[in-house]
Amino acid sequence: MAVISGLVRVMERAARKAGTRLRRDFGEVEHLQVSRKGPGDFVSKADQHAERTIYDELLLARPDWGFVMEEGGTIEGDPRKPRWIVDPLDGTTNFLHSIPHFAISIAVQEPALDGKGADGSGWGDVIAGLVYQPITDESFWAEKTRGAWLHDRRLRVSARRNLDEALIGTGIPFSNRGDAGQWSRIYAEIGPRVASIRRNGAASLDLAWVAAGRFDGFWETDLQIWDSAAGCLLVREAGGFVSDFRGRSLPICAESVLAGTDGLHARLHKLLAGAMKPSANPVDQGGAVG
Ligand code: IPD
Ligand code: CA
Ligand code: CA
Repeated sequence: MAVISGLVRVMERAARKAGTRLRRDFGEVEHLQVSRKGPGDFVSKADQHAERTIYDELLLARPDWGFVMEEGGTIEGDPRKPRWIVDPLDGTTNFLHSIPHFAISIAVQEPALDGKGADGSGWGDVIAGLVYQPITDESFWAEKTRGAWLHDRRLRVSARRNLDEALIGTGIPFSNRGDAGQWSRIYAEIGPRVASIRRNGAASLDLAWVAAGRFDGFWETDLQIWDSAAGCLLVREAGGFVSDFRGRSLPICAESVLAGTDGLHARLHKLLAGAMKPSANPVDQGGAVG
């Protein structure tokens, strides 16, 4: 039985409040598809409004904590206290095109115990995360060492051990961002060996789906911490592995992310590593599989 902490309740309250409005705005976006102006401006206002709602709620609950937000940037808080990492609308392109697959992602990161942290940022582990899908009303949450949950149901990554049965999520480089050649090479290694590949368009949900056993793995590059902080904790707390493309298991995941079940992560990493150009392949320079 899930014992929902005060911290998770705060995150969920903020996400649900913003989600109620996003759900209403999503209905409006469907009408705007056929208007001459299109839904672009409306969606960016919905995005900003959601972030403002989440910010106000979280600030009220923890007045001295800082923020990293996709729209509003970084707001410093008491450096001895944790900070919030917020993506108010993950899956914007889906939202814009009336595809009901998007989420709110909120994570909590604690200050590094040694004052530096693994990446020198001064920040340490992600200790709580929540990914809320307003359309399906699914609330995926996790706390460090306390497991991953969907509402009050404990999550566990899938038990599949055969690659040819695995369903793998990915994010494809778009709008001139990322390395499309590298993605294609990785796809050429992984694609033919697995049951199927999905590009669903909301990284936080891709990771939550790995935690929930819907996907057996996921890879993407050029992610930001607000895309992946909550989702990576979900995967780890559900018994899966998360590393970067070099195989390093970092406390906060971003940039390149490879998530997989305990049975498949190492094999997916081997395929991925084989697909990287030899000259640019950091695994050749001594990376370890996480
Ligand atoms: C994007 C989504 C998408 C991923 C992109 C992200 P946004 O976030 O997570 O799935 O492929 O890399 O930027 O822009 O919808 O918040
Ligand atoms: Ca995002
Ligand atoms: Ca976003």
